[in-house]
Amino acid sequence: MNYRHSFHAGNSADVVKHSLLIALVRALQLKDGALTLIDTHAGCGLYDLHGDQAQRTGEAMQGVMRAFADADPLLDDYRAAVRAVNGAGNEGAGNEGAGPLLYPGSPRILAQLLRPQDALIINEKHPEDAYALRGAMRGTPAAVHERDAYEFWLAMLPTRTPRGLVVVDPPYEQTDERARITKTLAAAQRKWAHGVTVIWYPLKDRSAHVHWKEKLRRLGIAKLLNVEHWLYDADQPGIYNGAGLFIVNPPYAFTQGLPPMLDALREALAPEGHRGTLKAEWLS
Ligand SMILES: C[S@@+](CC[C@H](N)C(=O)[O-])C[C@H]1O[C@@H](n2cnc3c(N)ncnc32)[C@H](O)[C@@H]1O
Repeated sequence: MNYRHSFHAGNSADVVKHSLLIALVRALQLKDGALTLIDTHAGCGLYDLHGDQAQRTGEAMQGVMRAFADADPLLDDYRAAVRAVNGAGNEGAGNEGAGPLLYPGSPRILAQLLRPQDALIINEKHPEDAYALRGAMRGTPAAVHERDAYEFWLAMLPTRTPRGLVVVDPPYEQTDERARITKTLAAAQRKWAHGVTVIWYPLKDRSAHVHWKEKLRRLGIAKLLNVEHWLYDADQPGIYNGAGLFIVNPPYAFTQGLPPMLDALREALAPEGHRGTLKAEWLS
């Protein structure tokens, strides 16, 4: 387990993933019934964008900083979630126009969205990140676990509340990561067919990706949506070309609002000289 999200926090993939997570939870919350939010690969929870690791890659410049330089109101909820961990001071005097100093990971964003009836259960296996996560989540109602994500994912299902959301956001540093996801998702569907599940993935090698998409399609999930963000106008072999999400059972209000939101995100995040594509399609 070498991956550390602190090198990548607030990059373009985080902007898309976190914006869509907020929209998804808000769509689920149009109904009053309690929700259980589960994060299988939670990371550290809070990241210092001016810290050594973030500065070394500079990835936030192509992500959250672009989102803050953009004024589209469809990104307001996302920007508000980032502002919420910065407090007035960090974006106030002395830091005007410089963007946020701190970046909230998925568990801190989910914690902000909780209503009194909702629950948040999060998991991180790396001991140092799990320690940081416990610190970052202090004062929130989150229950923190330190287990293997795939064992944890199945152990949490079915959720205690009738409705819930599982977020699966692995680093893909193990060669069997996609196979483990496919296997665990198939088992999760048997235990919890009506639940909402979001799976993030990076786009590098198109053929490996097409092959995996076909495997997921063959699981026969009735409502499986695929959102894919290609950053460049032509793929650049061997490098990071963007990211995607598989979303099982997205609520109707979420899918209805998706096209303009994807357009706003694509436009805000387009690298210099590229338009890119950011689209959703049903795999079922
Ligand atoms: C991409 S990061 C998570 C980022 C976070 N979801 C966010 O959006 O802020 C992936 C995390 O998964 C953790 N991880 C990797 N393999 C794991 C496993 N088998 N079980 C649990 N956590 C794992 C890594 O330590 C890393 O912190």
